[in-house]
Amino acid sequence: MTDTSSPGSNTPASGQGQAMWGGRFTAKPAELMQAINVSIGFDRRMAAQDLAGSRAHAAMLRKQGVISSEDEGAIQQGLATIEAEIQAGTFPFREEFEDIHMNVEARLRELIGAPAGRLHTARSRNDQVALDFRMWVREACDRTIGQIHALQKALLAKAEPHAATLTPGFTHLQPAQPVTFGHHLMAYVEMFGRDAARFADARARMNECPLGAAALAGSPFPIDRHATAQALGFERPTANSLDSVADRDFALESLAAASICATHLSRLAEEIVIWMTPQFGFVKLSDAFTTGSSIMPQKKNPDAAELVRAKAGRLLGSFTQLSVVMKGLPLTYSKDMQEDKVPTFEAFDALELSLAAMTGMVADMEPVAERMAQAAGAGYATATDLADWLVRTLDMPFRDAHHVTGAAVKRAETLGVDLAELPLAELQALEPRVTAEVFQVLTPEASVASRKSYGGASPEQVRAQIARWKEILA
Ligand code: ARG
Repeated sequence: MTDTSSPGSNTPASGQGQAMWGGRFTAKPAELMQAINVSIGFDRRMAAQDLAGSRAHAAMLRKQGVISSEDEGAIQQGLATIEAEIQAGTFPFREEFEDIHMNVEARLRELIGAPAGRLHTARSRNDQVALDFRMWVREACDRTIGQIHALQKALLAKAEPHAATLTPGFTHLQPAQPVTFGHHLMAYVEMFGRDAARFADARARMNECPLGAAALAGSPFPIDRHATAQALGFERPTANSLDSVADRDFALESLAAASICATHLSRLAEEIVIWMTPQFGFVKLSDAFTTGSSIMPQKKNPDAAELVRAKAGRLLGSFTQLSVVMKGLPLTYSKDMQEDKVPTFEAFDALELSLAAMTGMVADMEPVAERMAQAAGAGYATATDLADWLVRTLDMPFRDAHHVTGAAVKRAETLGVDLAELPLAELQALEPRVTAEVFQVLTPEASVASRKSYGGASPEQVRAQIARWKEILA
């Protein structure tokens, strides 16, 4: 990728801009206009897409007899030189040429002279930017899907050896019922699976080529929009020229998918933070993803997880930002839409970093099975199993069983023991028909093993889901 700039700034790396509008209040109108209008500082990230679009456009113009072979040859050569310059870092990104489209065209003119002027036939910056941005977002979606799959694989690799490792399942962050650590991780595999599918859906919907819509109404030249669409990897050309240059819903949809994915990442990050506390002690993270304190030598802070947790705010901010930019805009293009790029670039930067960091943390994470097993048995987590036993064995209505179990928990609390440690006589005092057989269901192992319903917490169900996902991701 050829994007080296900081996306948030209108000013390219040269530092030239600093001098130009450093003194904002004394700047002349022309300077102020340039300052607010210029976008090369961030849209240079679309240089590769801009070149690809121009190459396809030029080839099509030649094939349709709109430009000569000689002119097309010169244009293609010039564009190749520009591509090499960008890759080498020698391309002159200049603010006086405003944006990436005009920077490329200006450079082309310097390199090949007059034929450069023919490239913009049957094209406008309006369909050009719609194309470049769409291709950039499409590539970002593809990268993100790949990263999500990598994260899912890391989760699977951690879940498999812990398919039977007991851990408490929580509701309200209160111990609810025992589950396994593998089962818990597999919940995230499901969530990230839907995230990847959302990006794939968005990609499929955005995969129509706006090139050839020109300024807004289409072109009087005999262009072949199907040819350019195909050359640029699109399913088909867009079907309405106004829509082609006016909408950015492909970016919004991708940002919505990105926000939801970031929300999932944030939840997993939060759990890692909790699991890493000495109070929980469910997992250990190496120094690779933690920091020490400059004053408290005992500290191991989960900074990476905390930052992933926080990035969700940035992502949702980007989605909100672009939604507000787009709302109420009359058709078709308005310069407001130049503000579509920074939030989108920032969002994908943050998401890609978060996914990479989370994948690293999951691989690095060392579960502490003893701590989790200990916690899985605490907090009367098998109370539901007692109630279910009363229903199944004594044919008690569930509400009555719930009542008896509540009394048993209270009694165990008073005696300071676990449910499984409660003397049989104590249980019989509450319900005379209870037999010693009940103790078989009161351990966390038995509880988990009994959850054999499809998608349940039993190790065999967890292993079945791991196998299914392994196949999907293979
Ligand atoms: N830099 C512009 C953008 O990002 C390109 C399109 C300019 N079109 C125009 N009609 N001024 O939106």
